[in-house]
Amino acid sequence: MSITIKTAEEIEKMRIAGRLAGEVLDYIEPYVKPGVTTAELDRLCQDYMEKVQGCIPAPLNYAPPGYPPYPKSICASVNHQVCHGVPNERPLKKGDIVNLDITTIKDGWHGDTSRMFIVGEASILAKRLCAITLECLWLGIAQVRPGARLGDIGAAIQRHAENNGFSVVREFCGHGIGSHFHEEPQVLHYGKAGTGVVLEAGMTFTIEPMINAGKAAISELSDGWTIVTKDRSLSAQWEHTLLVTPGGVEVLTLSAGCPPKPATLP
Ligand code: MF3
Ligand code: CO
Ligand code: CO
Repeated sequence: MSITIKTAEEIEKMRIAGRLAGEVLDYIEPYVKPGVTTAELDRLCQDYMEKVQGCIPAPLNYAPPGYPPYPKSICASVNHQVCHGVPNERPLKKGDIVNLDITTIKDGWHGDTSRMFIVGEASILAKRLCAITLECLWLGIAQVRPGARLGDIGAAIQRHAENNGFSVVREFCGHGIGSHFHEEPQVLHYGKAGTGVVLEAGMTFTIEPMINAGKAAISELSDGWTIVTKDRSLSAQWEHTLLVTPGGVEVLTLSAGCPPKPATLP
């Protein structure tokens, strides 16, 4: 399958799915407090998607080749978990950082977004890692316009992460998205400017950098899904779904409670 250019009608459906995914994160934010379990957050998000929004949670039973069916409706990755953390019965505690990753399906179209949440009060390092990773996402978004290349996105993200003493996870990347959860192209969060696929208006893809406080290496837990840093250092991730527009970029997963582009960026 190649990179699909979405029609005006398809884009309108992706705007709806994208906003709904962002609104799940708005909804869950007040529940992310010391003592709550990620399994509780999963149940709350699943109910909200299914009963309030009329969406399908895309992760539930998602089974790409080589993976067991994903057992939950959201991903919840805590501290040294990089991504695809499977919600469980362990309570969150003060100082934890957690990524909640939501993918909705509405009317057959997908929206995919994730944010970091700080449980109570976090360490200076944890806060800095979350903030720099959000800057990485927005520096990537700032590269998106027709004629730019995928390598421009990866290079901007890698440079900012490494200039701040952090590392970029290599094994997982952003992805095309539309009527399928994961489509072409792969959107690497590292690389060389001026290389790779040339962007065209109507392309839709995610940018979702995973940035580690320590080394870039990862390992997979025996559940077949949860990814952790090999050195057990903290990891952060933020994700938006983007549309390439004639004038640049539209962020499809914005919602009322979404943190804006950081004021620290140009
Ligand atoms: N939402 C993740 C992404 O950004 C993918 C999760 S796959 C799942 O691509 F099965 F774990 F949900
Ligand atoms: Co994604
Ligand atoms: Co996601």
